[in-house]
Amino acid sequence: MALIGLWGSAAPVQADQDLAMKKNCSACHYVDKRKYGPSFQQIAAKYADQKNAEALLAKKIRRGGTGVWGQDVMPPQPQVSAAEARTLATYVLSVK
Ligand code: HEC
Repeated sequence: MALIGLWGSAAPVQADQDLAMKKNCSACHYVDKRKYGPSFQQIAAKYADQKNAEALLAKKIRRGGTGVWGQDVMPPQPQVSAAEARTLATYVLSVK
């Protein structure tokens, strides 16, 4: 039973990770260490206490931007739909 429960909760995270791979996020982001951009773990930690973090990051994911983590620029990601950006933002914030 415990195993089934684990699978149940792990599957959606895997799907979101696949989306991040498919949308090329992994070209610049690792989950657990800095690449060109900050790691998803760093991002999740930074916004852990921020109420509107999901909406903020969803917008940033599509439009790109710079200045939050240094001088490096995240280019806009027009291949990501608004709904996908929301899913990705939720996923990034859920990473521990
Ligand atoms: C070409 C490299 C590149 C790609 C591709 C890229 N990123 Fe980024 N990302 C960056 C950089 C650089 C930053 C830091 C920007 C800053 O300091 O404001 C960043 C920041 C972020 C942040 C934090 C934003 C903030 O304001 O704190 C999130 C969330 C994020 N990226 C998610 C994604 C997702 C999801 C994708 C795939 C759809 C993606 N990134 C694709 C380079 C990239």
